[in-house]
This record gives sequence, structure tokens and C-alpha cells, in this order.
Amino acid sequence: MIGFVFPCYGFGLPRSVMDFIEKSKLNAKYFFAIMTYGNIAASGLKHIEEVGSKAGIQFNYTNEILMIDNYLPLFDIEEQFRKERSKRIEEKLDQVVSDIRNGQAKLTRKGFVSDILSRPIKKLTAKFHYDEGDKWFIVQDNCNGCKVCEKVCPRDNVKVVRKAEFLHKCEGCFACIHHCPQNAIYLKLQRSKTRFMNRNLTLKEIIDANNQSNS
Ligand SMILES: Cc1cc2nc3c(=O)[nH]c(=O)nc-3n(C[C@H](O)[C@H](O)[C@H](O)COP(=O)(O)O)c2cc1C
Ligand code: SF4
Ligand code: SF4
Repeated sequence: MIGFVFPCYGFGLPRSVMDFIEKSKLNAKYFFAIMTYGNIAASGLKHIEEVGSKAGIQFNYTNEILMIDNYLPLFDIEEQFRKERSKRIEEKLDQVVSDIRNGQAKLTRKGFVSDILSRPIKKLTAKFHYDEGDKWFIVQDNCNGCKVCEKVCPRDNVKVVRKAEFLHKCEGCFACIHHCPQNAIYLKLQRSKTRFMNRNLTLKEIIDANNQSNS
């Protein structure tokens, strides 16, 4: 059994998930994909089916989990915290885990219109957030050079000399912004000064996961 668990980015897959699948040769009797999202996932799961099929993967089970939306250009994190309970995250997670344990075969699909509308949003997300998307980040004077941003970045896109600098191979995940202990990275057009950290994860776990995937 092999599964992919990843966030929805612009009605599609984050680029690193796409790259990973494209480069992989995987064999399993049962493939599943779980996409977390914050408001509208549209045909994000269709995207992993398409990318998977080119890599010889036929998914048996796909599903979505609605979570807090950490997309700072559109959402106020304080408001997201207030909505958290109504999203019933744990209940949905239990259902997904039980489905997978029972080897359920079920693909979540949204239909033709959603598939068509998702395409331009995927392209816009790539245009605004990938590579030079970090030009929207402003490192403020309260940066103390602690390097947390460098360590949480999944793409080695941050170098801290005296303060954080970005190398223009960004994925737009905002991990550096959300985890900065000084809240020193300002995103142009951000809706919220408050930052989000998933309470079920420690900073060390995120850094360790990055170190493992880079080694
Ligand atoms: C660049 C970017 C694009 C996003 N696009 C979407 C989207 O199209 N639809 C959506 O519902 N959530 C979107 N989100 C929100 C995340 O999918 C959501 O916050 C995440 O799945 C929550 O999981 P986490 O707590 O593990 O980060 C986006 C987030 C980022 C950073
Ligand atoms: S995490 Fe924040 S304070 Fe630390 S180096 Fe990065 S920007 Fe500066
Ligand atoms: S951590 Fe920051 S610099 Fe690194 S990919 Fe994510 S948004 Fe870009």
C-alpha cells in the first residue's frame, strides 16, 4: 500500500509532489491520495490521477480533508481558527483512515466543469508562487538571523547571512512566513498578520522531515 498526503495548491498538486511522482517508479497493490485543503479543492485530486497515470500509478482511493486555510493572500488566520471546529477535521480523518484500512475503492471526482475551471487556476498559482514568487516577501528589521526559515523551507530557497534572503526557486508554501519566531517576513497582499502552525506538528518534525527528504 502506498499513499500520498499533500495540500491542495491552486486546485492542483504542489510542484514538489508532482516532481516526486514523475521521478518515481512505484509498485503497490493499493494506491491512495489524500488532499488537504482550506476552502475549495475543485479538481485537485483529478490532477494527481493524471500525474499518477503518466507514472504508471492507478489510484484505488482518493479523498479530501478540509482543514485550516493557510493561504495568506486570501484568508485571515484568526477567522480560520474560529472556523476550525466546524470543519470537523478529526471526524473526516477517522473516516479516511477507516476507508483505507478496509481497502475501500473510491475516487473523489468533481466533474467536467470543475476539471476545466481548475486548469487556469493551477497555471495562475504556478505563475504567482513558484520560483520568483518570493519577490512578494519582505524581510523586516526584526529578523535576528535565527535560520528557522532556512530550515523549514522544503526547496532550499532561503539563505540567512545576516538576515533571510530568497533564491527564487520558491514553491509558495509560506512555511518560512508562518514559522518565523519573530514574524519578520511580511507578505505583500497578506490578509492576516497572524500566522498558522499546525498544532499536531512540532517545528522539529518539520525540520527533520526536510532533512530526510534532502538526504
Ligand atoms: C500556495 C497555496 C495555494 C493554496 N491553494 C488552495 C486551493 O486552491 N484550495 C484550497 O482549498 N486551499 C488552498 N490552499 C490551502 C491549503 O491547501 C491548506 O491550508 C492546507 O491543505 C492545510 O494543510 P496543512 O495544515 O497541512 O498546511 C493553498 C495554500 C497555499 C500555500
Ligand atoms: S526565521 Fe525569521 S527571524 Fe529567523 S532568520 Fe528567518 S526571517 Fe529572520
Ligand atoms: S519555505 Fe518560503 S521560500 Fe521556501 S518554498 Fe516555502 S514559501 Fe518559498
